[in-house]
Amino acid sequence: MTPPGTTGTTGAGAVPGGSVVLVGGGPGAADLLTLRAWRALASADVVVTDRLGPVDVLADLPPDVEVVDVGKRPGHHPVPQHEIDAILVEHALRGRRVVRLKGGDPFVYGRGGEEVLACRAAGVPVEVVPGVSSALSVPALAGIPLTHRGTVGAFLVVNGHDPLDAVALAAVRDRTATLVILMGVSMLNEITDQAVTAGADVATPVAVVESGSTRHQRVTRATLGTLARRAADVGVRAPAVVVVGDVAAEGLLTPAGATRPAARPAPAPEPAR
Ligand SMILES: C[S@@+](CC[C@H](N)C(=O)[O-])C[C@H]1O[C@@H](n2cnc3c(N)ncnc32)[C@H](O)[C@@H]1O
Repeated sequence: MTPPGTTGTTGAGAVPGGSVVLVGGGPGAADLLTLRAWRALASADVVVTDRLGPVDVLADLPPDVEVVDVGKRPGHHPVPQHEIDAILVEHALRGRRVVRLKGGDPFVYGRGGEEVLACRAAGVPVEVVPGVSSALSVPALAGIPLTHRGTVGAFLVVNGHDPLDAVALAAVRDRTATLVILMGVSMLNEITDQAVTAGADVATPVAVVESGSTRHQRVTRATLGTLARRAADVGVRAPAVVVVGDVAAEGLLTPAGATRPAARPAPAPEPAR
């Protein structure tokens, strides 16, 4: 595999002997991997990978690179974190260059900190290659700016597993920050109920962006009042980023007075042969 702009030889940052590099792979599209990430992959002996992120690049690794899949997927038991830590350390102690490929950024809900600690505790050199986090990139890919002059000047990233805390609820209620929720698809009812009960306007715009950067990317717009119903109607599925706040309004980046481009007509069917 030859990363763009390199010769495909050993990465400049390679350390002698075994090592672990936590590589943030971005939201999924291979061209959202950084050059440093490509270099780390090009010099790997072992790639320990998740389900999310740029998994397509794995098919292009040289055949002698071992790929260990520790990702969660339906019908596939996730590998517990302590076992992932042990896999990284074991391979590195055998003198191998290990890439731990993760979706987004390793330190944004990625358990990267635990993996760094495990390596350091075992005396294994470890480095982190930051990635393009879905928290920022997936809204951007859907044309949603997290801050927008004159609309909102801050954003807050939270996880949807836990109930929204007082800071997040105040941000939504007072419209002082855009709320970006990861891992929130199964909790959409609870999230909207909580926000409305805390005093947020039911008309607050919400966007759900599924599978950002992939060919399955889809954007669903709603409000706090309509989100749960709308998401059920269209069958919203993980992975998705939920954006709550005025920047999620559909017409935000439509110039005043501009009309929406007409939908392109469907291509004519091919003539029968
Ligand atoms: C365990 S967190 C990992 C986040 C990751 N470290 C990052 O920085 O993007 C997984 C969550 O990230 C979000 N996510 C990751 N990739 C995504 C994508 N391509 N499209 C939409 N959401 C995504 C979803 O909310 C998903 O449930």
